[in-house]
Amino acid sequence: MNILIAYAGKTGTTKTCAHMLADKLNRATVVDLNKENINPEKFEIIVVGSSVRMGMIQKSLQKWLKENWEVLKQRKLACFICNGFLEQEKQILAGNFSQEFMDHAFYVRSFGGELDVNKLKGFDKFVAKNVMRSAQGKAMGTPKILEDRIAELANEILGL
Ligand SMILES: Cc1cc2nc3c(=O)[nH]c(=O)nc-3n(C[C@H](O)[C@H](O)[C@H](O)COP(=O)(O)O)c2cc1C
Repeated sequence: MNILIAYAGKTGTTKTCAHMLADKLNRATVVDLNKENINPEKFEIIVVGSSVRMGMIQKSLQKWLKENWEVLKQRKLACFICNGFLEQEKQILAGNFSQEFMDHAFYVRSFGGELDVNKLKGFDKFVAKNVMRSAQGKAMGTPKILEDRIAELANEILGL
């Protein structure tokens, strides 16, 4: 089975998750959509992944999904997002992916995230601090990568 993992992130979590998933599969092509474009035609299983900022997935993934939808809708498609707060998962998915996408994809879930404001600068740091403060106010959990979900998707793919 030809597997593609096409991801877009900003500070490294999505990349880490894409590679953790690839390590659990026998063979997968991993592509950073912020660095290169790829034609999905020759792949049978396609996993797309994106980080979330202010509720939105990465523009490069939005564009790639639009440009390649005719092919993607004929393939086995899975999707993960990396975001800090699981409480926002449903809302983020509903706000970023069409009903057609959600109906077609066999897996759409958050793999969790990481958020270290000390590693951020400028506007990102300002926004992240506010996001963290608002999350603390709502007693949301601390962001972390959910390895069990990565294993869950890997098992689903290996079982196809
Ligand atoms: C500027 C900024 C905005 C963010 N906005 C959200 C958000 O709206 N919802 C959320 O759940 N997480 C949010 N996060 C947390 C990120 O989704 C999390 O840090 C994720 O792991 C980032 O993935 P990346 O390292 O691949 O970019 C935000 C983080 C930053 C830095």
